Amino acid sequence: MNEAALRFRDVTVRYTPGQAPSLIDASFAVAAGERVALLGLNGSGKTTVLLTAVGLLAHRGEIVVGGLRLARRTLAPIRERVGFVGNVPEDQLLLPTVVEDVALALLRRGVAPAAALERATATLTTLGLAAHAETPVHRLSHGQKQRVALAGALVSEPPLLLLDEPSAGLDPPGQRALARLLAAVDAAMLVATHDLELAARLCTRFLVLDHGRLVFDGADLDMVLRRWALDEGEVGRPGRAPQGLAARIPAPRAPIEAVGPAGHLSEDAAP
Ligand SMILES: Nc1ncnc2c1ncn2[C@@H]1O[C@H](COP(=O)(O)OP(=O)(O)O)[C@@H](O)[C@H]1O
Ligand SMILES: [Mg+2]
Repeated sequence: MNEAALRFRDVTVRYTPGQAPSLIDASFAVAAGERVALLGLNGSGKTTVLLTAVGLLAHRGEIVVGGLRLARRTLAPIRERVGFVGNVPEDQLLLPTVVEDVALALLRRGVAPAAALERATATLTTLGLAAHAETPVHRLSHGQKQRVALAGALVSEPPLLLLDEPSAGLDPPGQRALARLLAAVDAAMLVATHDLELAARLCTRFLVLDHGRLVFDGADLDMVLRRWALDEGEVGRPGRAPQGLAARIPAPRAPIEAVGPAGHLSEDAAP
């Protein structure tokens, strides 16, 4: 069996000591190449999961990324194998022009400048941004910035992508293009989103968070949609909106082989 791309075991995260945790005993795994949606209402803990997975928040429990247990000494190699796109693309775009910004991810990994620029250009072409390679980042639209941030995450071909609300702010054609584009990428993905259509097009498994607890983990999108309807107080009209949505979106592909037993429990890790 392949090593999981990402594994959480009994992970709890508290932003403020003494206060209620924002993630509570979360256990799940994402297999190599598997595309998993992380669903839940605002404040349910989606961003917390993603930030914790790359060591940006202290946690209790065990996190393993591509076989490496997350701890201070593994932070650098773990971040090298993760492509992370946060929900504010501006936060991630650092260099003056698009192509330089995308190449930065490679320069940080020791790739020579000429090769880095060449690969960055190729990735921008794939994302339909070739014409903007020399554009100053601040002149891009929100959707373009999001694609540039994605290019920066994809350019090093990491085995795991963590994407926070990648379709937020995109128009419907942009959302569909994003789903197509991501579906063509081989990496494992954990995609935090409210966008059920994106989740259905792209993902084969769905995790649902509710107030920091993982309350659903499965491939049956209809069950997720029913749960969503309940969350929205549509109990009196069971299934109406969800059925409409379910009819529009393609059936998920066959689920990928489940990930086997997790490793041992760990002591606290606070990178
Ligand atoms: N920096 C922070 N300090 C304290 N609490 C936070 C912080 N960021 C998020 N939280 C809390 O953690 C919970 C989960 O938030 P978040 O992971 O951002 O949810 P989501 O991404 O699902 O909207 C919320 O209750 C939120 O208020
Ligand atoms: Mg969030």
